[in-house]
Amino acid sequence: MATFEGITIALSKGRILKDTLPLLAPLGIEPTENLDTTRKLIIPTTRADVRLLAVRATDAPTYVQHGAADIGVAGKDVLMEHGGEGLYEPLDLGIAKCQLVVAGPKDFDLSGRQRLKVATKYVNVARRHFAAEGRHVDLIKLYGSMELAPLVDLADVIVDLVDTGNTLRANDLEPLVHIADISTRLIANRAALKTKHTAITALINDLKEVLAP
Ligand code: ATP
Ligand code: PRP
Repeated sequence: MATFEGITIALSKGRILKDTLPLLAPLGIEPTENLDTTRKLIIPTTRADVRLLAVRATDAPTYVQHGAADIGVAGKDVLMEHGGEGLYEPLDLGIAKCQLVVAGPKDFDLSGRQRLKVATKYVNVARRHFAAEGRHVDLIKLYGSMELAPLVDLADVIVDLVDTGNTLRANDLEPLVHIADISTRLIANRAALKTKHTAITALINDLKEVLAP
């Protein structure tokens, strides 16, 4: 495949996307295809020197880490789970704000259990969180609808995102421990920051201007 000399941006599909595009538009970066309908995964933009990759939210750091994309957009939750290896995180885009929490049945006594069963898609984050408290936990990897797990005794508690709290409330659960504040971050490949320094720095500075004019 021919190398692309410009900047490749990995964009998380899903809920982050609709908030990301308005940040790029003032930089003259608009996809030339409708991202809601196109089946294309490499999408040219109105700037010849910028192209987009449409990737799953969880995969965005991986594309940037390995240099398949020069920069990318990813939730702090996804970055914490990934570990951040090979990545530089220059900018908080301030979108998709929520919290990463341990949640469970109302008034659940976390310290009352010898061996805790924790269902989550954030297994690395959960392991680190409980290890810091000196606890070994049984981790159950899920890919969505974590709130179901305590209701059917798959797990005692979950590690998941909470925003309005509606999902927890609807399932008679509540946040028990705050782990981290989450928002969407701009990430950059450390090597690309050197080889494409001028172009990437200009883009980061332009984005800063959009965020805080
Ligand atoms: P994947 O498609 O890779 O499995 P996903 O389905 O979790 O990921 P989205 O639901 O689109 O992807 O979420 C993308 C990001 O949006 C999350 O990583 C998080 O940073 C943020 N996010 C998720 N849920 C919420 C929420 N309820 N409120 C605010 N932000 C959220
Ligand atoms: C996210 C998260 C919670 C919910 C929290 O799920 O995993 O379930 O949002 O938001 P709330 O506090 O405003 O209710 P999402 O809708 O992305 O579904 P999924 O992760 O289960 O696919």
